[in-house]
Order: sequence, then C-alpha cells, then structure tokens
Amino acid sequence: MQIKVAKSAGFCFGVQRAVDTVYEQVEKGICPIYTYGPIIHNEVVVQDLEEKGVKVLESRDELEHLTEGTVIIRSHGVGKEIYDLIQSRGLNCVDATCPFVKKIHRTVEKESASGRQIIIIGNDKHPEVEGIKGWCHTPAIVVESVDQAEACELPENTLVCIVSQTTFNYKKFQDLVEILDKKRYDKIVVNTICNATEERQTEARQIAGEVDAMIVIGGSHSSNTQKLFEICRKECENTFYIQTVRDLDMEVLRSTGLVGITAGASTPKKIIEEVQTKCQS
Ligand code: F3S
Repeated sequence: MQIKVAKSAGFCFGVQRAVDTVYEQVEKGICPIYTYGPIIHNEVVVQDLEEKGVKVLESRDELEHLTEGTVIIRSHGVGKEIYDLIQSRGLNCVDATCPFVKKIHRTVEKESASGRQIIIIGNDKHPEVEGIKGWCHTPAIVVESVDQAEACELPENTLVCIVSQTTFNYKKFQDLVEILDKKRYDKIVVNTICNATEERQTEARQIAGEVDAMIVIGGSHSSNTQKLFEICRKECENTFYIQTVRDLDMEVLRSTGLVGITAGASTPKKIIEEVQTKCQS
C-alpha cells in the first residue's frame, strides 16, 4: 500500500499557538488554570492537559462563579462581554485567540459601529461565530445556506459588511456572496477565510482525486474536519473519517493501492503519524 500524507494536515498556526500557550501556562505553575471551552477539538490533547491540572470551563455560568485563577481564551475567540466578565471577576486573562479571528473581531466592531449591518457567513452554532457576534454593536445576521442567503431581506442599499467564519468552505462562501450580491446592498465583502483552511481543502481535494481510499482524521466535533470529509467524499467514494488510529479498519483498506491521509486543524502530528505507521505496517 502506498501512502500520501497531505503536507497541510494537522495543527494550523492558530491552534499550535493556542496549545503552546496553555502548556506555557502549565509550566509557569500558577494555578488554577482554566480554558474557556476545550482549547481545541481534540479529546487526546484536552485529556493530557486535564491531567496536568488544566480545567475546562463548559459554560459562562461556570466562569461567573470563579473567584481566582487564569482563564485562557482559545483560538476561536470569544465575544467582548467574556473579556469584561473575566476582568470584573478579577481573574487573569490569557488571550490565545488566533490573530486571524481577532482581525474579524476588529472588522465587525469597526464596521458595525459605523452603521453597517454585519452578515457572517458561517455556522450560527459555532463558537467562533458566537464570538464574532459578540463584537458587533448591533445584532449580526448569520448565513450558512443558499436558502438563508436567499431569505435575507434587507432594504435595497442597506449598508452591509460580509465576513466569514475562518473555517468556512471557500467555494460555498463565493456562492453565498453571489446570492447576496443580487440584493443590491451597499456592501463590503471581507474574505476572512483563513489560508490554512483553504490550502488544506485544496490539497485534500487534489489528493482524494488521485487515491483509491482517503482517510480524514479529526475530532468528532471539529467542523473543519467534517468539511474536509465532505470535500474528499466528493472526489473519492472510499473516504473514511476517524478520530484516532484505533478507529482505523485495516480490513477495508486491504486491497487498496494508494491511500491518502489528511487531518483537520486540531489533529496533533502524533496521531497522523500513528495512522501512517499503521497503514504501512
Ligand atoms: Fe487561525 Fe486559521 Fe487556524 S484562523 S485557528 S490559523 S484555521
């Protein structure tokens, strides 16, 4: 069996930076340390950190009850009110928001303050989108599907600013912007899709088109991994979604010549290597 591993598989810059930030805090040894939500969508990493004493705050309510410690903001970012809450509780805030997400926060804050209606192309339930909404001065509209874009009914010439969730599919983003284009809004479009995602998607599509089977590795809650899976599935029917090497069913790969491997932004290198080793054994 021949293996082709995508060069762009695994941690992106922002996730690496966020994970490193937590380990740096652990090394400093000033407890207690919390992350506001799991630092990344990877259970193995989260568990390792938990063993080192890092607790995950699952809700705003839990944050509200803290009286001491350091709260680390993960790469997805959070709305302004969470920073305010951390400050008002007298807690130490360590911000590991990806700089690319931070840039969206600054854009929507500025544009909504100047009177533009913010439209976010993304998944309304995703924490990154939640965070972006939390920097808008007026309620943002979230558009994820063709139906939602078509249903967007603002008066002609409304001032709008369109941004995107960083991990959104680039082609889908273009399609949705095209629909909104026909509505005659006075608009600014800021393509805030992160290059890491675009590169990973393009490479995955290309590899999936060349191989007999494709393996996509990532956490079950990771939206960018789910999107990678969709892209690969279109090119290669034999696409498998696994979380770790333990999910790998070698039986189904037995008579395969060329196998491609890619992984979502929150998959540690170690897991990718383990899958690669197992395929080669
Ligand atoms: Fe940042 Fe892009 Fe990763 S926005 S968290 S570098 S996918």
